[in-house]
Amino acid sequence: MKKVMIAPSILSADFSNLRQDIDMVEKAGADWLHIDVMDGHFVPNITIGPLVVKNIRKHTKLFFDVHLMITNPEKYWKSFKIAGADAIVFHQEVACDKVQLLKEIKESGLKAGISIKPKTPVETILELLPFIDIILIMTVEPGFGGQSFMDELLPKISGLRKIIDENKYNCLIEVDGGINLDTAKKCFNAGVDVLVSGNYIFASENPAKILQDLKSIS
Ligand code: DX5
Ligand code: ZN
Repeated sequence: MKKVMIAPSILSADFSNLRQDIDMVEKAGADWLHIDVMDGHFVPNITIGPLVVKNIRKHTKLFFDVHLMITNPEKYWKSFKIAGADAIVFHQEVACDKVQLLKEIKESGLKAGISIKPKTPVETILELLPFIDIILIMTVEPGFGGQSFMDELLPKISGLRKIIDENKYNCLIEVDGGINLDTAKKCFNAGVDVLVSGNYIFASENPAKILQDLKSIS
């Protein structure tokens, strides 16, 4: 059976001890590190810029999954590449030439992904799927960690799984928002490949155990 991958979201880490928190999840078996970039425009919050990515890059070999919740990904993605990103995921809801941007990101040697907000239907990305390495399904409204998983989105995940499998697309499904052991199992059963989890891991008293529990669902 396929193994699910876990991507702790550093949005819920202790930013005064970021290096230590990253080290902890890396040792506990994290597969990727999820990095939430917010611009105060696409979402009502401001978080991490390329400078932080550059600094943490020196201390870990984890795959950097950079989730751009910003209005102008075409303008800023390269700064995140230079800073050490391994994947750039931007939103379907922004106005830019998405096929062109996906191609540029892939040609630069990085993985390229598209994220969709809860109310954005899968149909809106069908023609992008051949160009996408990662599709990130938001299971909360983007902007903040610690929100509750929206159960009504499970059919969206299983529907996408079916489309990807039927067309043999080389594309991972990642979910983001409200992932705990219970919702992780539901997502895994719906066909998810990568689970992002922030608050559940970092707010726990034993993050390493939580990470192991999440990994053991597959
Ligand atoms: C929300 C972010 C998420 C967030 C998930 O806009 O994209 O990555 O960190 O955090 P939890 O797991 O706490 O919902
Ligand atoms: Zn995210």
